[in-house]
Amino acid sequence: MNQDDYKKQAAQAALDYIKPSLTDDTVIGVGTGSTTNFFIDFLGGCKSWFRAAVASSDDTAHRLRAHGIDVIDLNSAGPVAFYVDGADESNQHLQLIKGGGAALTREKIIAAVADEFICIADDSKLVDLLGGFPLPIEVVPMARSYVARQLVKLGGDPVYRDGVITDNGNVILDVHNLRILDPVALERDINQITGVVCNGLFAKRPADYLILGSAGGLKTIKA
Ligand code: A5P
Repeated sequence: MNQDDYKKQAAQAALDYIKPSLTDDTVIGVGTGSTTNFFIDFLGGCKSWFRAAVASSDDTAHRLRAHGIDVIDLNSAGPVAFYVDGADESNQHLQLIKGGGAALTREKIIAAVADEFICIADDSKLVDLLGGFPLPIEVVPMARSYVARQLVKLGGDPVYRDGVITDNGNVILDVHNLRILDPVALERDINQITGVVCNGLFAKRPADYLILGSAGGLKTIKA
């Protein structure tokens, strides 16, 4: 078994978890990344069990459509019953770092809307303290240097993710060397920097359910 097998385990378990609740009206939010891609592939096998999906990125929308799954605009979706997505790190409180795939803003929007946020990952993503993974920040391009200077004042070392433009036309700063002792406070403080569109801390709205694949089988944590 390798890391991809653990991701598949978690993705399958997420589908098994939501399956009994699916109806013709159900809208499912779908995240971005390699673990979520496995989920999308499994979801394709039961596309007639639910109404449609909302996608957190253009890549995800493309993959969903390739499976024949209807992708709709969040603004006309109504309630989103579930949001299934991966993470770059999670702590025991299901507060997350996300955005390694640069889709953090749309991910955070769908997570905010969804009734239940199910996070899927391999067990290497579970950490005691967030911040080992550089924290992604989506920034309006003209504010990049200003935002970087403010992030240094908060104790981080921002690095411009060269060559990456988000689906929203913005850029990403990855902030290294943060020891995130209070994720809710840091999420709020970074959001207050002018020019920041979104930061990859999902602490104000953490996941509700974490499903981890591992060599020893599935591990789950409920909020
Ligand atoms: C995408 O922007 C991220 O938030 C992903 O959810 C995160 O990077 C996890 O990706 P993997 O499933 O590829 O590890």
